[in-house]
Amino acid sequence: MSFVITTPLYYVNDKPHLGSTYTTLACDALARFHRLEGEKVIFITGVDEHGQKIQRKAESLHTNPQQHCDQITRSYIDQWKSWHITYDRFVRTTSKNHQNLVNQFFSRVKSSNDIYIGHQTGWYCVGCEEYKDVEEDKDIEEDNKPFCTIHQKQLEWRDEENLFFRLSKYQSHIEDLIADNDFILPTSRANEIRNFVQTGLKDFSISRVNLSWGIPVPGFKGHTFYVWFDALLGYLTAILDDGYEIDIERLNQLEWPASIHVIGKDIIRFHAVYWPAMLISAGLEVPKQLFGHGFLTSEGRKMGKSLGNVLDPTQLLKTYGNEPIRWFLLSDIQFGNDGDFQQRRFIDLVNNDLANTIGNMLNRSVSMSRKWFNNSVPSFNYSLSDNSILATKSLDSIEIVRTNLRYLRFHEASSSIVNLAKYANVFINEQEPWKKIKDQSQTKEVAMIIYEVLETARIIGVMLTPLVPNLSSKILTQLSCESDYKEWQTKLQWGLLKQGSILPKPEPLITKIETGIHNEK
Ligand code: MSP
Repeated sequence: MSFVITTPLYYVNDKPHLGSTYTTLACDALARFHRLEGEKVIFITGVDEHGQKIQRKAESLHTNPQQHCDQITRSYIDQWKSWHITYDRFVRTTSKNHQNLVNQFFSRVKSSNDIYIGHQTGWYCVGCEEYKDVEEDKDIEEDNKPFCTIHQKQLEWRDEENLFFRLSKYQSHIEDLIADNDFILPTSRANEIRNFVQTGLKDFSISRVNLSWGIPVPGFKGHTFYVWFDALLGYLTAILDDGYEIDIERLNQLEWPASIHVIGKDIIRFHAVYWPAMLISAGLEVPKQLFGHGFLTSEGRKMGKSLGNVLDPTQLLKTYGNEPIRWFLLSDIQFGNDGDFQQRRFIDLVNNDLANTIGNMLNRSVSMSRKWFNNSVPSFNYSLSDNSILATKSLDSIEIVRTNLRYLRFHEASSSIVNLAKYANVFINEQEPWKKIKDQSQTKEVAMIIYEVLETARIIGVMLTPLVPNLSSKILTQLSCESDYKEWQTKLQWGLLKQGSILPKPEPLITKIETGIHNEK
């Protein structure tokens, strides 16, 4: 069975921003981790191309929606390429395959007697593509129009005939599903959803009239599918998109359900409630897990075009390079919580963790080894103990890192790696090999000290692979170790660094960032 990871399917109203880059980078780290654990991974990403928001955007640009979608989709593909995202499938909801799947899915849900015609009235947010529950005092602006707190835009009143999905029928199914503590992570998000479900599920409309930019609902002239109904099905299209016919019956033999949907906190309700109910109605399995991550702000403020503080991932990549940004986003922020991108903090973190702690440890140990042991890793003819202090610390860290990565605790995994490097630096300082080397009778002991620190650096290099892959391979190259491998179990053992192997001249792992202008070496 494969491990199936999905990112949200991003709206193509605009090119990728740092929020979508953040989710995608985290999914990439998770996908790389599972591959290293020896699992077959299907990593799915893609774009959500229908709906009013996209139609209006295209109109405002005086272009047709398909052209607009093609252009923005291209920028997503280019963006993921520049960040070295290792996705396996990229789904577009305007594809023929997807339209085909949506029709097949609808026919199943209809056969379950879960579709009826009803009347929808209410306040709609085009930004969220969602009807909003309006709380009288909280959401009403001065001029008496309610607004969306996420998009800071006025809601629009809608009164139309729509097709409805019988969500209410699935109340107890959903209650059972979310009672499982592993279904929604982190726990705070699970509680949010439990509170929402407790208030009683209401049927929701799955079609729109007077909206041409969508998939036509078969048998219901003038109706197009509601963008969320259409978009969630993109995950199934991606699974079926294996070169064979798009046939929903085949899903039973393929890699469905998803192992994990990684999403932002604002769209959990769709994934935790609507989506499982739709799947049950269609006789399909529900996803195994959801992870709702927090939002990124910039210098303490919500990112917004009017505030002029939107962080452009392309610009950040150009200024600082891939690995520093990846490291900051994954290591500084606890993935479930909101996080703030502060330039000062970013620079300090990258300089401290990558340049001073890990880089320095590597650099000084390689330099000492080259100087005292003939440009090589020291060799000694007695057996190596894995009870030594650095061996014990390294093996503990391996366990901590693997467990935390499994639960998307990138911050905790990164901290454990940095702490190990700090520990190794203290170990060198305390051992003072530069004093011991002056006494010939202590050469063997120095060989052992240096070997252990180099071996710790190798383990750190391997453990960094899913988080900062390029940096990891730089470390391993400096230690004359191969960095191109599929599984890491065999590499995460103490004592594998080859004694006597030649060490190349050390280079700084990363150039310290001085004033915000930085070149990754
Ligand atoms: N199209 C829907 C998802 C459909 S999935 C079948 C959608 N798209 S989106 O482009 O608006 O948002 C995609 C993801 O980006 C969401 O998970 C959202 O939470 C996330 N983010 C948007 N802004 C963000 C930040 N500032 N920070 C972190 N993530 C943010 O919703």
